[in-house]
Amino acid sequence: MAKPDILLVGPYPEWDLVELEAQYNVLKLYEAEDRDTFVQDHAGGIRAIATRGELGASADLIAQLPKLEIVSVYGVGYDAVNLDACRARSIRVTNTPDVLTNDVADLGVAMMLVQSRGMIGAETWVKDGSWGTKGLYPLKRRVWGRKAGVLGLGRIGFEVAKRLKGFDMDIAYSDVAEKPYGEGMTFIPDPVELARRSDFLFVTLAASTVTCHIVSKNVIEALGPEGMLINISRASNIDEEALLEALESGALGSAALDVFEAEPKLNPRFLKLDNVLVQPHHASGTIETRKAMGKLVRDNLAAHFAGAALPTPVI
Ligand code: 8YV
Repeated sequence: MAKPDILLVGPYPEWDLVELEAQYNVLKLYEAEDRDTFVQDHAGGIRAIATRGELGASADLIAQLPKLEIVSVYGVGYDAVNLDACRARSIRVTNTPDVLTNDVADLGVAMMLVQSRGMIGAETWVKDGSWGTKGLYPLKRRVWGRKAGVLGLGRIGFEVAKRLKGFDMDIAYSDVAEKPYGEGMTFIPDPVELARRSDFLFVTLAASTVTCHIVSKNVIEALGPEGMLINISRASNIDEEALLEALESGALGSAALDVFEAEPKLNPRFLKLDNVLVQPHHASGTIETRKAMGKLVRDNLAAHFAGAALPTPVI
């Protein structure tokens, strides 16, 4: 039997590609010189899309594929997949929850520590000889015992909060409703109020049209000149223009960001700031987690083509 055609939107690690190519005829969209022509040439055969969290699958792409049955996302976030277009044609969508939760939480907490203690600048201080010529490194701010806010106490937010408890932090969270598992944390529904009482505000909510710019100018200003914003979710959760203005003016103390609008082409204004730690959207980027994500993508595809229940369906 011929292998089903699947469209791979962006590169996967070699170990995943080998496994996928054993089962499917993998069509690499990212290698095409002209994407539209490539899609048109193969449209009649493509039954599945394998994509990444930040790349998703647009309504346009979906509309060009009449035989599409499933979109499998390598990532927990499916905000870049046009779910309405999928629903309208009963196209299934899957993601890779749970397997990445702990690594994403680890990176968020690491960013808080690195940024608060000025570790990037401290390394430069050693390497450029400033330690010898200028002496002691400027003093930075403590992390332990301070106030943390978690915006979105889902799987990732919960794991962030669990780690922060180890730093004896005073933790509050916002969500659509109080969570039964939010023990020992204060529930503050209003993100502005959450920001006002926080030294560190973690953005950990799944992005959607509803959460777009939930971290508004008001939230950023409430966090204030001593506050730090840490984003390990999606850029769309933050009003990026308001964030840049606040970082530039000092209305916000600092930020640690793993995600950006239009990434990887982030706004060059970020690069001029010394109160922002920028990371290349790699919160889930460990070998262990990425292998588990790749396996889950393949397990979902295999279940679909076998007519079995999908392990991690979105729709
Ligand atoms: C990316 C992510 O999928 O889980 C998500 O939603 O955005 C990430 O895990 C990953 O960076 C691969 O591109």
